[in-house]
Amino acid sequence: MAKERIIIIGSGIAGCTAALRLMQEYDVTIITKGSKEESNSMLAQGGVAAAMTKNDSPKKHFSDTFRAGCYHNKPLAVRELTTSGPIVIQKLIAAGMSFDQENDELALGLEGAHQMPRILHAGGDQTGKFLTTFLQNQLTKINWHEHLMATEIIKDHDQAIGVCALDTKNQLHTFYGEHIILATGGLGQLFPVTTNARTISGDGLALAYIAGAKLADMEFIQFHPTLLYLNGHCYGLISEAVRGEGAKLIRKDGTAVMEGVHSSLDLAPRDVVSATLSQEIEHGESVFLEISAVKNFEKRFPAITASLDKHQVPFRETKRIPVHPGAHFLMGGVRTDLNGKTSISGLYAIGEVANTGVHGANRLASNSLLETLVFGEKVADYIESHPVKQRNQPVSVSKPKLLQSPHLPEKQKLQEKIGEALGITRTEEKLTEFLSWLESFDTANNSFEEAEISHMLIVAKIIATSAKKRTESLGAHRILKGVIK
Ligand code: SIN
Repeated sequence: MAKERIIIIGSGIAGCTAALRLMQEYDVTIITKGSKEESNSMLAQGGVAAAMTKNDSPKKHFSDTFRAGCYHNKPLAVRELTTSGPIVIQKLIAAGMSFDQENDELALGLEGAHQMPRILHAGGDQTGKFLTTFLQNQLTKINWHEHLMATEIIKDHDQAIGVCALDTKNQLHTFYGEHIILATGGLGQLFPVTTNARTISGDGLALAYIAGAKLADMEFIQFHPTLLYLNGHCYGLISEAVRGEGAKLIRKDGTAVMEGVHSSLDLAPRDVVSATLSQEIEHGESVFLEISAVKNFEKRFPAITASLDKHQVPFRETKRIPVHPGAHFLMGGVRTDLNGKTSISGLYAIGEVANTGVHGANRLASNSLLETLVFGEKVADYIESHPVKQRNQPVSVSKPKLLQSPHLPEKQKLQEKIGEALGITRTEEKLTEFLSWLESFDTANNSFEEAEISHMLIVAKIIATSAKKRTESLGAHRILKGVIK
């Protein structure tokens, strides 16, 4: 009997976890927009949060996740995450994944809003790279398609049955399958300043939306407080784990930024720290991470050290790293149940593109990699226990509508406008103005670039519409009343 076909869009940890589970019994294809090494997973520095010690528990992890999420989280999703977390980690360790150790025990880091150290890490600050590579090295039975931009979820009536994708020469490819899994990550590249990989600009969200799937919580976008900031430009993440090891946020004159703002000071929830830093910067301050209390900085943070050296930051002498907040993570996404099922039959979403309700209004640090592992397994469990008959390929697929010379904005201009309207602090006026600016543009699929910009436009409109509807601030959605100059 022919194997059921699975098409996974995205090559980060969520997609690779599902692929690894399914590749023996299914015909698994992975389509990815860049190379398979380009994903947010590969860039993740902090680690994976899980209750792995006797004095910790899934219950404590649950309560931290809930508090950071401003109680907007879905309790069942958080329970799934925090109770399955230690199980998936044990499974990875048993399969040979090696996390950093100290005195023959797992070395556990601390990050914002966690009541105790529970962040497993690998290669110091290279957890995402080590974990993604560990999984990808085992993916021996996959049909890989790199540098393909998915442009459409093909549907037959209400059933997802395939994917259209453009290559870099704008040739159209079609793939059919019984199960289509979105694992495309979030949308950081919508913004001018972000920690996200080059390829992460909301494609999966737009594809799901165009196909008619439900999306939720799209107004909740997390801004990470500390990106390396030099001469008006940002150069990637400086992990929150650096503050977990004792670094402090200071102003130019050395005074502590978080003093008097929150009882957890520098380890307050991320939305609080980012909003505070953003206000300081708006008032003309420069903000730094002061690292003199961090023991063995270079050994603990080798990737950050390499980046600081590459950009000639004299941190060894000054003990200061200049920082600035930037777009980091989408809490919302394609609405799914706890098995990754979306509102469209045959279409699943896992990882950052999905909205299980696990993160609420603000994600707890290092819960994102855990989410990819837990829900990557869950979708595989579901598919394995729900066999479907292989479907015949439909003879004809409706051709994408081609617009001659569509009116699209320049990508950089669009990012600037998104940054102004949908950044850390929003106002109703700016949202209205932005929505009307968006109205003048078309969407089109004639080329890789057009599809990317069109996806960004679609997603930006969804965020702005959701943000306008939520008239009170909550977690990462901060909306000011009245006109702000
Ligand atoms: C970080 O290392 O600060 C990022 C970790 C995360 O986003 O959870």
